[in-house]
Order: sequence, then C-alpha cells, then structure tokens
Amino acid sequence: MSTAYKIIEHAYDVVVVGAGGAGLRATFGMAEKGLKTACITKVFPTRSHTVAAQGGISAALGNMGEDDWRFHMYDTVKGSDWLGDQDAIEYMCREAMAAVIELEHYGVPFSRTPEGKIYQRAFGGMTTDFGKGSALRTCAAADKTGHAILHTLYQQALKHKAEFFVEYIVLDLIMEGDECRGVLAWSLDDGTLHLFKSHMSVLATGGYGRIYFSCTSAHTVTGDGNAMVLRAGLPLQDMEFVQFHPTGIYGSGCLITEGVRGEGGYLTNSEGERFMERYAPSAKDLASRDVVSRAMTIEISEGRGVGKLKDHMYLHIEHLDPAIIHERLPGIEETSRIFAGVDITKEPIPVLPTAHYNMGGIPTNHKAEIVTLFGDNPDHVVPGLMAIGEAACVSVHGANRLGSNSLLDIVVFGRAAAIRCAELIKPGTAHKPLGRNACDKALARFDKIRHANGSRSTASIRLDMQKVMQAKATVFRTGSTLDEGIKAMQEVRKSFSDVKVSDTSLIWNTDLVETLELDNLLAQALVTISAAGNRTESRGGHAREDYPKRDDENWLKHTLTWLIDNNVGFNYRPVHLFTLTDEVDPIPPKERIY
Ligand code: FUM
Repeated sequence: MSTAYKIIEHAYDVVVVGAGGAGLRATFGMAEKGLKTACITKVFPTRSHTVAAQGGISAALGNMGEDDWRFHMYDTVKGSDWLGDQDAIEYMCREAMAAVIELEHYGVPFSRTPEGKIYQRAFGGMTTDFGKGSALRTCAAADKTGHAILHTLYQQALKHKAEFFVEYIVLDLIMEGDECRGVLAWSLDDGTLHLFKSHMSVLATGGYGRIYFSCTSAHTVTGDGNAMVLRAGLPLQDMEFVQFHPTGIYGSGCLITEGVRGEGGYLTNSEGERFMERYAPSAKDLASRDVVSRAMTIEISEGRGVGKLKDHMYLHIEHLDPAIIHERLPGIEETSRIFAGVDITKEPIPVLPTAHYNMGGIPTNHKAEIVTLFGDNPDHVVPGLMAIGEAACVSVHGANRLGSNSLLDIVVFGRAAAIRCAELIKPGTAHKPLGRNACDKALARFDKIRHANGSRSTASIRLDMQKVMQAKATVFRTGSTLDEGIKAMQEVRKSFSDVKVSDTSLIWNTDLVETLELDNLLAQALVTISAAGNRTESRGGHAREDYPKRDDENWLKHTLTWLIDNNVGFNYRPVHLFTLTDEVDPIPPKERIY
C-alpha cells in the first residue's frame, strides 16, 4: 500500500494538530521554548471555530467587585455536577488571572471599565462567596471575545516564527506500539501526502458538534482528533455529556451569547412569564446552561412555547438602552437581524436550546498528557501524545461546562502543554527510525474512502446521523429512546460502507474531505449515544427521564469508551476529588441548586 503513494517526510520536535485558540497557544508556547514546532490545520488559523466564541473568558480579576479564584473553583466544581477533576479545576482557576493579563499584554482588545480596567460581565453559574453572591467574572471584548483572542494568538505564533501547514488534513496518528510517533497528513492544495515525525503530537482538533442537526458549531467541527484516538485503540472519556446552549437562534442554530443574559436579558414563555424564576429562584436566567436548557424544554413540552408551533422561547434585551447594546453586543444585533429578522432594540429574539459543546473527549491530566487505564493504573500516560481544548477531557468541565470557562481552558492548557513539552523534549533530539509499514494502516483507510464507489452521498448519510442524534440524544433522554437511537446509529454507521466519493482527485477534493470527516463523526456519534445509554443517572448535561436523580454511589466516575468494530466497550476512571495543593480543600459533592 505505502508504495502507491509518495510520502514527503518532515521531522519536528512537536506537531500541533489544529489552530484554534488551544492549538495556537500551544504552538507559539512550544516555539518560544526553542522546540521546532509545526502547526497543521485544515482551515486558515483565524477561521478556526474559536473565532465564534462571543461572551468572554472567565478569571477572578475582581475588576468590578469582589472575587477570588477559590470562588471560581467552587462554581466550576458545582457547575460540573461534581464530575470535574478538582486538581485540574484548581489549576485552571488559579492560572486564570495571569492567563488573561498575559492575553491583554499580547494585545487582546478587551472592553474597558470607566477606569480603564478589563470589563467583566455576569455569566451563568458564576458566583461570589461560594454561591452567595453573583460574580462579574467574564472578561469580554464586546461580544467578539473569541475573535479577538484568536487573532492575537495567531500574531504571537507569527512573531515566534512557528511553522504552519495550512489546509492540510491530518489523516491519522502514526502509532508504534502504544507510542505516538507523529501524524500523516494530506495537503489539499497540491494533493501531496506528508509524514510529520514528532516527539510529541498535540491534538487541538476541537469538538464534534456536527453530529447534531442543529448546533452552534462551524461545519468544520468534526472532532477529527477524537476519531484518530479511537482508531488508535485508545478510549474517549465522558462522551455522554453534551452541552445544549439555551440560546441558539430558532431555525438557524446561530449562537446568541449568554452575555445577553449577563447584560440583563431574560427569557419568557408564551404567557409572557419569566419562567426561570420557578426553576432557579436565586440565579434565574443566569443558572447554569444545563438547568436553563432543561427548563426551556419543559416549558415547550408543557405547551408554553412561543410562535405558531409553540416550539421555542423569547429572549429579551429590548429593554436595555440601545447605546449599551451597540457598545457591548454589536455582533448579536447583527446576527439577530440577519438570522432571525429581528431588531433586538425593539423585539425579542426567538431561541431554542442548541448543541454547543462537548464536555467529553480525549482523557488527559492537567499537564495535557493523554492518559488511559492500564492494568490498575487509571492515569497511565500515553507516550508522545497530548490533547488540549475541546478535544480534551481534562476534566475541568465534568458533566456541564460553565459559559466562558472554555476560552480559559484553551489558553491555560495550551500553555500547560508547552510547559510540559519543554520539560520532556530536548530541542533537536534525533528521531528513532520508524518501521517500514508505519503508515500502512492510515493509508489503507484513506485509499479505501478515496475510492468509495457505493450508492449513497456523504450528505445523505450525514443527515441520517444528525437526525438520529437530534431526536434520540438531546436535552432529555430515556432508556427506550436511547436504545432505539443506538440501534439506528449502528445502522447509519454501517451504511457508510455504501458511500460514494464523487471523484478520486487529490487536489481540492472537498467531497473526499467531507467523507473523511463523516467517518470521524459517525464513530463519535455512536460512542456518544452508547455512553448516554450506559449511564443510568442524571448529571449535568446528561438528563435521563427514567433516572432523574444524580447517583453518586454508582456513577461518580468517568466513563471510558472504546470503539470495537460497530460496538462500544466501557470502563471507568475515578473522579479526582482531591486538589493539587493544600491551599484549597476539595469540595465534597452536595445537592446542586441555583
Ligand atoms: O454564550 C457564549 O458567549 C458562549 C460562551 C461559551 O460557550 O463559553
């Protein structure tokens, strides 16, 4: 097989796959430390999905009132419904202030208070004094914070002369035994194939939101790194936990930032009632996302939805001074006009819970190293492989992520990966020779999909998958719908053997790209719905109508999932209910009320 394709070889200390916020922060961090670093990305870096993050990045700066990183840690543990690893959460919240100031120094144009400090807004689940007050913790650049951060990080990467391979599709990890030795990639522009040998491969490939029909994710959000990990025989973690953002625009799924509610916006039902007061008497519209999305879904199912079909809710911001809206939420004003035909200074926005974020992903420790179960050791480090950002499950978000903790996650753990690589790798170390057949498995998959000549289009199989996931693995789940969904997903995944790729060209063959991505999505969809069927409790974003309570006795553990042919195997890792330092005590599980 390997003789059929000519492969161009490269040797790097580190290869980073993906150029979103996590990938870029890691890339220039590595380059800054003298490591020869390549960043391989399927889209131009500033088009990565981080660009779409709106409301802000959390850090207990205390610019607009009292705050403390320990309050942030408490909120994050509670938000995670106690499934988050507390050592990693401590690390993230403690590092947050320095991470944001570092971004400011790099040039992120944060909005400002009248005194010139970084502006901070309220976000869901963010409190002071361990749940007693409400925190202004989310540092914002109007409603384009991700855009501002992504562009700044790219400038830093250019400054540090990191090498980019743009519009390269990474096909697979090159594994020898249980060690990762690099990646194989395909260049869309000229059709060439490239083997990148590296001492460390860092997966920063984002989430896999596109398994759903309605999501806030870009079309490129296909979790390619997660699928490579499954193909390498390694597990994914906590895949049943999918976040539905309460305010996607009805019909299009476009994100309307939680910052709208942070600036004083609120939700109403068909009776004009601010229904969140019933579900979360204290936090109301700023309860955590899983709570708000469930409340909206219940209101709709009980007949209090708005619109002709009574199938969505209204988000109001029209009571605010238009000057505030123009200054702090200009993007929302434009998005609502274009995608909902609404003038937000005069009328409410039609919204619906929409798939937004994957809490699950590739299991890592707080140094970004990939870990797996090995014998009795639940924290066995996989040599040569790291994961960061939404691709990773550190796990700082546990069963439910708090809004604005994802931009924090990407910069903190992108930097952590660079720090760890500098400890592990001496720049310029020679590569051990690779086996002659090292690329064969990856090439065989690529070649098979490239020549697929069945009767089904990629788009039709993708639509089948998205419909199953949307109908059977949504905000509320039950055993029977999940069982139906698992069987249906197995059938959809089998139908991939009948896919047709329209031509075999290696140059700008976007049909082939989408088919490779679909293969990746199908694996993750099956794992996600199977993991949801397996977890017989409700926790965070995983709400089972047939098991409505959290069950710490049986389920205070991370799910590990392996994909074996068309079935999913399970095992578990303990949740880290301990902290990293003795500066803070672990937060014991208790009832989660907002
Ligand atoms: O609502 C938002 O602005 C999204 C932020 C996030 O997912 O962290």
